[in-house]
Amino acid sequence: MDMALTPSETLIFERSAPGKTGMDLPALDVPRAADTRPAHLKRQSFEAMPEVSEVDVVRHFTRLSRWNFGVDDGMYPLGSCTMKHNPRLCEKAAGLPGFAESHPLAPPKHVQGNLELMWTLQEWLKEITGLDAVTLHPAAGAHGELTGALLIRAYHVSKGARRSIIIIPDSAHGTNPATAAMAGYKCVEAPSQADGTISFDDVTDAAAGHVKKGLLSLISEHGREIAGIMITNPNTVGIFEYRIAEIVKLMHDIGALVYMDGANMNALVGVARPGDFGVDAMHLNLHKTFSTPHGGGGPGSGPVACTAALAPFLPRPAVVKTQSGFDLDWDRPQSIGKMHSYFGNFAMEVRAMAYCLSHGSDGLRQATMRAIMNANYIRKGLEGRYHLQYDSPTLHEVVFDDANQSKYGVTTLDIAKGLIDRGFHPPTIYFPLVIHGALMIEPTESEGKAELDAFVEAMADIAERAKDDPESLRRSPVKTPVARLDETAAARKPILRWRGE
Ligand SMILES: Cc1ncc(COP(=O)(O)O)c(C=O)c1O
Repeated sequence: MDMALTPSETLIFERSAPGKTGMDLPALDVPRAADTRPAHLKRQSFEAMPEVSEVDVVRHFTRLSRWNFGVDDGMYPLGSCTMKHNPRLCEKAAGLPGFAESHPLAPPKHVQGNLELMWTLQEWLKEITGLDAVTLHPAAGAHGELTGALLIRAYHVSKGARRSIIIIPDSAHGTNPATAAMAGYKCVEAPSQADGTISFDDVTDAAAGHVKKGLLSLISEHGREIAGIMITNPNTVGIFEYRIAEIVKLMHDIGALVYMDGANMNALVGVARPGDFGVDAMHLNLHKTFSTPHGGGGPGSGPVACTAALAPFLPRPAVVKTQSGFDLDWDRPQSIGKMHSYFGNFAMEVRAMAYCLSHGSDGLRQATMRAIMNANYIRKGLEGRYHLQYDSPTLHEVVFDDANQSKYGVTTLDIAKGLIDRGFHPPTIYFPLVIHGALMIEPTESEGKAELDAFVEAMADIAERAKDDPESLRRSPVKTPVARLDETAAARKPILRWRGE
């Protein structure tokens, strides 16, 4: 990613010159049609479009694309988000005309192959999760969580109860409280204990000077107001919640449900099944576990799996197998309704199915084991140089922090920027919030030993520089067209539109 010689790029609008064009149309040789467009549908003002040639456009966007860093350029160890290789076979399958060009409103008898694919994927996901039913509707992990929270609500309402609380560990992904709140729940936080897992007992926060109630206290305080718990497993610090069966029992004893954020199923597939340890509902992120592309919020896929008790509430229509083939079942009176237009993002479902079939069940397990091995390889390579808050066994991602470097004035942000100069996309930084200055590294199963060694070497070099030349890290990146941007302003006040200023 050496971009030191890349010239700065002007906006396409700044390349505009009056009269320049990328096309040459013949003169109009028919009478001009009357303008019948209703006035209220017309633009009041038309901001100038850039007047540029085709060459200008192609070169401008090609240059910009080269400044980008993608998973096809190099290692992209973004913990929690999971950026892994998208197998070209899966892309090819999704592009087959029978899949790509079929119309979502086509009658089921004309798209039996597509319905069979969806049904088969549901069956694979049932087997992988150990649960009884699956919906492919949700368009992302967070959307799956919302679906799950609505299932929990529908379940309690069907029993005549209106429970109001969802318990969420403090290590949870931000989408968990957000989706539970969208479903109308009050979120109550459960603290982590010293090993990084959810604490059953109260935890004294010495810095804040107060005691946080552990799971047992929360249960005795809120009792049957608790609708369920939303728990990520492995959690967002890459650690398995080893007391999950006890947590399930505590919840079930008060009639509450267990929703598992299964975004991290890439550390469990073929090894452990949430249904077997008592989970009632969960989602899977197809981009994290089944290698479908992960791009800017979608179009993704976050199927939800659940027990038979929750199945009647799943979104409709459901894809079902009948005596004569496959069909869409709309007759689901208890359904929470539609969560997506049509039946979810079908092209992602095709990719995930291609991924499952090309790996086979043994290959899926191998991918899990390899993802865990790669994260542990990095842990071993960097232990001692970088501080590790939790000593518990690492699964698919490892979370270091900047405690060893901050004493030289080098922060997590400096380490991340230093990695850019060394040819790597930074890991996830400052998340999860339970680890101060977190550096969350997820290599995924796709990386080979050479890449892992190069990454460890780059991180080791940064650790050395932090001691003997911290200023060089505070200045980085120096090999990119732009150095440090105002990330807060970019997030809070993004300028997404050119206004000619
Ligand atoms: C643990 C966890 N939960 C939820 C999500 C949200 O998933 P999505 O970005 O697909 O909405 C993620 C993101 O990858 C995640 O890592």
